[in-house]
Amino acid sequence: MEREFVFIKPNAVRRSLIGEIISRYEKKGLKIIALKMIQMTKTQSEKLYKEHEGKDFYKPLIDFVLSGPVLVMVLEGERAVEVVRHMHGDTDPLKAFPGSIRGDYGLTVRKNIVHASDSQEKAEKEWQIFFDQEELLEYSIGEENF
Ligand code: RTP
Ligand code: MG
Repeated sequence: MEREFVFIKPNAVRRSLIGEIISRYEKKGLKIIALKMIQMTKTQSEKLYKEHEGKDFYKPLIDFVLSGPVLVMVLEGERAVEVVRHMHGDTDPLKAFPGSIRGDYGLTVRKNIVHASDSQEKAEKEWQIFFDQEELLEYSIGEENF
């Protein structure tokens, strides 16, 4: 079982897409083991996007993720990292296939609706920015059916 860190970006929250997006993870068979709506702090955003520090899109990206509430979550499932990134589609919504979240709801690269960590190691580092260990819950969704 893998764990993946995801957050729903502020424009998707403003556009009332929360239910639509969460519903896709549920229907896919991914288990939500942690979830909350937050106003990200500057410190959290800088930790999250440390790898992009210095790039031309860094400052606007930080301003954007701080522009309103986001939903942070941890999803668990078989091959969760790859599965979720596949569901999200290409970083650029123009290249993301229809049927993917960015392909269906995104228009521009910065406002591409969702974030997902790109490895299990990164996922662990990233959810630790937002959650304490005891906030990750254990329960069953009948995993044998997926
Ligand atoms: P993410 O981390 O958001 O799940 O997406 P990703 O791995 O596909 O994209 P990444 O390269 O990690 O970039 C992080 C976010 O930065 C914004 N971005 N803007 N050229 C640009 O203007 C540019 N490139 C990236 C996007 O919002 C991307 O999701
Ligand atoms: Mg990334």
